[in-house]
Amino acid sequence: MSILSKSAYYAKAGIKFVMRIVLPFIAGIFFNWVFALVFFINWLGDATWKSSIFTILLTGLFLVGFPFAYLWLGRINALRQGAAGLYQSGHNTIEKLVGNVTKAAVISSQTTGLGAVFAGDKVKNKKGFIKNLEEKLPRPIYFILSFVLEEIPIAAALKEVSETTELKKENLVAFPTETVYGLGAIGNSTNAIKSIYAAKKRPLNNPLIAHAYSKKQAEKYIDFTEIAEVLANKFWPGPLTIIAQTKNNEYSKILSQGKSSLAMRVPSHPVALDLIKRVNVPILAPSANLSGGVSPTLAEHVINDFGPAFKGHGWELSKIINYGSCTVGIESTVLDCRGEKPIILRHGFITAEMISDFVKLDVLDLKNEKTELISPGLLKSHYSPKANVFINQNKSMVNSGWLTFGNTPKSLQKNKNLFNLSPTKNLFQACFLLYSGLRYLDSQGVKNIQVMPIPNEGVGVAINDRLKRASYKN
Ligand code: TXA
Ligand code: MG
Repeated sequence: MSILSKSAYYAKAGIKFVMRIVLPFIAGIFFNWVFALVFFINWLGDATWKSSIFTILLTGLFLVGFPFAYLWLGRINALRQGAAGLYQSGHNTIEKLVGNVTKAAVISSQTTGLGAVFAGDKVKNKKGFIKNLEEKLPRPIYFILSFVLEEIPIAAALKEVSETTELKKENLVAFPTETVYGLGAIGNSTNAIKSIYAAKKRPLNNPLIAHAYSKKQAEKYIDFTEIAEVLANKFWPGPLTIIAQTKNNEYSKILSQGKSSLAMRVPSHPVALDLIKRVNVPILAPSANLSGGVSPTLAEHVINDFGPAFKGHGWELSKIINYGSCTVGIESTVLDCRGEKPIILRHGFITAEMISDFVKLDVLDLKNEKTELISPGLLKSHYSPKANVFINQNKSMVNSGWLTFGNTPKSLQKNKNLFNLSPTKNLFQACFLLYSGLRYLDSQGVKNIQVMPIPNEGVGVAINDRLKRASYKN
């Protein structure tokens, strides 16, 4: 995956112009000649007026209708491809967020699943820009362009700045991973790292995960034990974070903030990998939410947590790379691989059974009290929405919203604030929807969120772990 440059968009526009305007007109003229010929032959013979009129109509249809039909198809296609192009290229990045992007546009881009919103200096959103262009160009020219050349407004709006530039400027960039959105800082700058803590209001004793683009890159910073070796080969790229001994070199010390252990993972999301590769330094990234809150699985969640200013004392979030939903939906499994047996510090998508299958060892599971000593981030209370969360529920309280699982019980069907994690009791789907569900019910202003029982098996263990922490107060 690579970011398309301005010139690439112009080149694409040129190709489309030929394909969608020049060729259809040539085709139209060609068919016109064919029908004119048929008409002429008809006329020479003893054709009836009816058949001649039919031929004339057909000629007209092909002369005008064919290119027009092609143009309309082209327009639909262009819109689709233009959006998909932005989506894939990462240029749906929301640039200079303050005042430039309307939330509505972001949300509508989410619903199309394409995230085709972008913003430059003069641009509010894609529609706004096309309107701008409309004002500048003579109408007939704009009319033709609007049918075919989605790339021109895109190219014109692109500032040739990249996420990597922002990272190198020690600014924060939020990016998608397969688990949740991360709040990224370049791993070789203590200033950038500090700004993560300021932005999230995160306790300073809570270390961060370094994201590498390959195991080979990770090997520069940590020592791989045999267990770590086996698991990295099996699960990377993927949602497994390995805690290992920090190597004794300058950059490792910065990444681990002077600690003897460092958490690393290679995410499997193409945008994350591309970003790390281009910046060529590991990216330190916690989940892109305010400390203690619900993790983000959509760019919109990041906007809600850090907007509308996107900067504060000692931090600036200068870009959010919007790539729609994170497919896993909950954070990576955090595994301490330094000892004789692996220890799960945080449950996640990769389960204890999957790990023990590969290392042929028992996997230890530190219970909450001890976990806090080793992994200060794993506080008992975490992942909390504003509402009070109650787990394993079956009877409704006053003013509560519900996270249901499986069929919605009859007694709840009249409740307006329901969010079904999986009507078919699929735990992967529940994982995918968990944080959206919590955030949705919060946005409805309910006082309590009641959660139906969720089986504590497979990824259900991670789901229950998160819900338990979210409900700690109650
Ligand atoms: O899926 C994920 O892991 C996401 C995406 C963005 O990669 N990241 C994430 O980071 O969830 P964060 O900071 O929200 O959670 C990382 C957890 C924290 O609980 C932290 O305490 C623990 O990993 N951790 C990080 N470094 C550690 C270390 N050296 N020793 C023990 N625990 C560590
Ligand atoms: Mg987090």
